[in-house]
Amino acid sequence: MTTPAQARYSTIAILLHWTLAVLITINLLIGFFHENMADETRAFLMGQHFAIGLTVLFLTLVRIVWRLIHPVPPANPAHPGWERALAKAVHFLFYALLLAMPILGWLIVSTGRGNPISIFGLFEVSALPVARDEATHDLYEELHELGGWAFVGLIALHVVGALKHHVVDKDSTLGRMIPIRNWRER
Ligand code: HEM
Repeated sequence: MTTPAQARYSTIAILLHWTLAVLITINLLIGFFHENMADETRAFLMGQHFAIGLTVLFLTLVRIVWRLIHPVPPANPAHPGWERALAKAVHFLFYALLLAMPILGWLIVSTGRGNPISIFGLFEVSALPVARDEATHDLYEELHELGGWAFVGLIALHVVGALKHHVVDKDSTLGRMIPIRNWRER
């Protein structure tokens, strides 16, 4: 019988987790460094930033629906209460940012030039039906930047937590989210 410590995330949840991790890392890097790029490179990479961001929004909605249908494995009862509460809070804040960051980005574009957004040249997504307004545009930019830093902080906390379980506690926490069965089951 599988104990709570050995329970794993479903394959789809694992796939979505690592895909989102890669896409968010790329978007944070483009976002934070776009101001120091040559015009053409910036225009190209920011186009990818928009498309990746809206893909993140779509995959997050898929992830939430999947999570409702396939509940996550139970917490490891060996972990102290504060660790479980902290992990829960970090995961909740991740979902909040995963939804807020793409929507804020979409609002920046919509209150700015208001052009449709090309999704990797495959199709276009319209701007949101909001008024073009410099003050709200600037506010969304500020919030988007703040969200970017919050993402960096949360990712740092999340990675430190995962590595602490793997290296110090030597338990199965990281193994539950790795696509290899029996990788570590303690
Ligand atoms: C996972 C989703 C996203 C993440 C993590 C992310 C992250 C970032 C970061 C860190 C910045 C730099 C902020 C700064 O230093 O000023 C940025 C800039 C920007 N992002 Fe995003 N972004 C995401 C999605 C989007 C989407 C979907 C759009 C538009 C459809 C978008 C539009 C923009 C724009 C226009 C800027 C430039 C703002 C400025 O020049 O101040 N972002 N993004």
